[in-house]
Amino acid sequence: MKTTDTTWQATVNGEHRELDIDPSRRLVDVIRGDLNLTGTKVSCEIGRCGACMVMIEGEPVNSCLTMAYQCAGKEITTIEGLHGESKEQLHPIQEAFLEEGGFQCGYCTPGMIISTKALLDQTPHPNDDEIKEGLCGNLCRCTGYGGIMRAVQSAATKCQQQQQELSDTSHIVR
Ligand code: FES
Ligand code: FES
Repeated sequence: MKTTDTTWQATVNGEHRELDIDPSRRLVDVIRGDLNLTGTKVSCEIGRCGACMVMIEGEPVNSCLTMAYQCAGKEITTIEGLHGESKEQLHPIQEAFLEEGGFQCGYCTPGMIISTKALLDQTPHPNDDEIKEGLCGNLCRCTGYGGIMRAVQSAATKCQQQQQELSDTSHIVR
């Protein structure tokens, strides 16, 4: 039975978004179908692969298992929300995946990058076990995981350098 559409609103990649939708729809369908943010991928649809990973309030979640109503009013970040200093530039994590060959077909990559962002936000200097735990919900059917591990290690270094540069710049501006 179809429930009545109601106004759903959330902050998506920093922008306030409002939609008239059935709130029992899956978040992944709203993101891809209604917001046209197709960087988030759908694969297993049962919470096993991490292709659909987004961040809600900074926490990585499988958007195939999340209903739209569960994140109404919250802050959602998809892969399109990650970028470098300008929107045209890659985020350091994206650069690291490119440089270290952390993907082949790339289908798993948006989810991997979102999980890496969430991991590095919480643990800026992760060891190998922490990286494995942080990415344990993300499966890749193409690569070994060596390139992905190197990419996360490199991303950690890049993010620290970026933080350092930002703090140096803000020091100069003041
Ligand atoms: S599509 Fe959501 S976890 Fe696989
Ligand atoms: S690069 Fe193809 S699924 Fe990971």
